Amino acid sequence: MKRILKRRSIKIEILGIVFLSLFLITAILGYFSFQFSKNRLVSMLADKSMAIAATVADFVNGDDLLMIKNNIEGLKERRQAALAPAVSPAYEKMTEMQNAPSETLIPAMKMYLKYMNLLSEVKKVTNIESPINIYTKDRKGLVLLLSTEKALSIGAVYQMRPETERALRDNAPQASGIYKDKDGVWISAFAPITLGLAQAPEAIIEVDNKIDLYFGMLRKELATIIFICLAGLAVISAIGYQFVDKLAGAIKKLDVMAGNIEMENYNVKIEIKSGDEIGHLAETFEKLRLSIRNKIDELRLSLVQEKKAHLESIIALTNAIEVRDPYTRQHLYRVERYAILIAKTMKLPRNQIELLRYGCYLHDIGKLYVDDSIFKKSNLSEIEIDTFKQHAQNGAKIIEGIPFLQKMKDVILYHQEKYDGTGYPEGLKGNAIPFLARIVCVADSFDAMTTDRPYKPKVSFKEAIAIIEKASGTQFDPEVVKAFLKHKNTLENIAKKHFKIT
Ligand SMILES: [Fe+2]
Repeated sequence: MKRILKRRSIKIEILGIVFLSLFLITAILGYFSFQFSKNRLVSMLADKSMAIAATVADFVNGDDLLMIKNNIEGLKERRQAALAPAVSPAYEKMTEMQNAPSETLIPAMKMYLKYMNLLSEVKKVTNIESPINIYTKDRKGLVLLLSTEKALSIGAVYQMRPETERALRDNAPQASGIYKDKDGVWISAFAPITLGLAQAPEAIIEVDNKIDLYFGMLRKELATIIFICLAGLAVISAIGYQFVDKLAGAIKKLDVMAGNIEMENYNVKIEIKSGDEIGHLAETFEKLRLSIRNKIDELRLSLVQEKKAHLESIIALTNAIEVRDPYTRQHLYRVERYAILIAKTMKLPRNQIELLRYGCYLHDIGKLYVDDSIFKKSNLSEIEIDTFKQHAQNGAKIIEGIPFLQKMKDVILYHQEKYDGTGYPEGLKGNAIPFLARIVCVADSFDAMTTDRPYKPKVSFKEAIAIIEKASGTQFDPEVVKAFLKHKNTLENIAKKHFKIT
C-alpha cells in the first residue's frame, strides 16, 4: 500500500493561522485605537473651542454689540478705507474719513476696535491660528460684525449652519464635527450672545479651530503604534515559529512511524522527548510498535515451525516413495528444480512458488499404490498401464485427510493432464488444467525423457528440449514452454551439477 507523500504541511497551516490572527488583531486594535484617539481628540478640541467661544461670549457686552450692529454700514466703509494700502493706525485712519460720522458711529468705532483687540488677544492667548468671528442674526442669515480674519468683510451675510441654529435656539454653546476644505481640517464652536434687552440671543461667536496639526500628531502616534505592533508581531511570529516547528517535527516523526507500521516495518524506533500529549502519544506508539513486532516475531517463528513440520511430513512421504523406487527421489528434486526455474521466469509470487515446490515433491505420491513389479518391467500390459495411471487419483486420496496438503492436490491430481485434453485422469483441456499442474507437467515430462527407465531409454537433453518445443500447444501450455525454453542451454548443466543422471 502506497502512502501519500505529498500533503499540506501542518507547520504552514498553524503558522498561517497564527500570523493571520496576529495580523488581524493588530489591524483591528490599530484601527480602533486610532478611532478612539481621534474621537477623544475631536471631543477635546470641540470642548476647547466651545470653552473659548463661551468665555469670549461672557466678555462681550450685548449693548456694545448692538451699537456695532446698528452702525455696521458706516463701520464697513471705514474699515475698507482702513485696510487700504497706505496704512496708518486704524483708529486715526477710520476717523479721518471725509464724511462726517453719525452721532453713534464714533462710539461704535471705538467699540469695534476694542473688541477687535479683545478677539486678537484671545486668539494669541489660546494659540488658535484660525479666525474668531461674531455674527448677528437677521432675516437673510448671519451678518458678520467682527472677525480676526482681515480677508472677511464685515457686513457680509452667511448662511445659518445647523450648529448656529441650535446654539441660538437652545441658548447654549455648540460644536460642529470635523470637516475639510481647501485650507485644511477644521472644527468649529459657537456660543450665543444676547443683544441689549432682547429675550433670545441674536448674535453668535464662532471659533474656527484648524486641527491639521493635531491630526498630523495623531497620525505620527498611529505610525508609532503600528510599528510597535509589527515589531511585536515579528517577535511573536519568531517565537511561534520555534514552537510550531518543534510541534510539527514531533507530529512528522509520528507520521513517519505510522507510515512504517503501515508498510509493516516495525524495526524503526521513535524517540520524542516531550512531557506533553505528543510525548505521551509517542510513548504509546512505541509500546504499540514493540508489541506488534513481538507478536509478528512470534507468528513468524510459529509459521517457520509449522512450515518445517510440513516439510518434514512431505520429506517423510518422499522417503516412503524412495523405499519403493530409489529413482523417484532424485526425479522429484530434479522436477522441482525445473519447475521453479519456469515459475521464477513467469514471475510467480513467492507463496505460489513454495506451493509448487511441495507439489513437485508430492506429485508422484500415488505411486505408493503401484506394485513393485511394475517399476521393474520394461513392457507393461494395458491393465498395468491403467493401474500405473491411477497414481494421480491415488496420490490425491493419500493426502485427503491431511489439511495442509490440500493446496497441492491440484498438482498431484492433474500433472498428467495434457493441454489439448488428451491427458488423464479427467482429460482437462487448456486453462481448465490448474496452472501449477501445467508447469509440473513440462518439468516432469522433461526429466522422464532425460533419464533411463526400465520401460523406456533416455534421450539427450537436446532431443528432449526439441520434443518439448514440438509439443507446445498440444501436450504442453505454450506459455510454460516459452518460459522453460529460456533456460534450454543451462538445463543439462543444472541436472549434472546437482544429480546423478541415470
Ligand atoms: Fe513424475
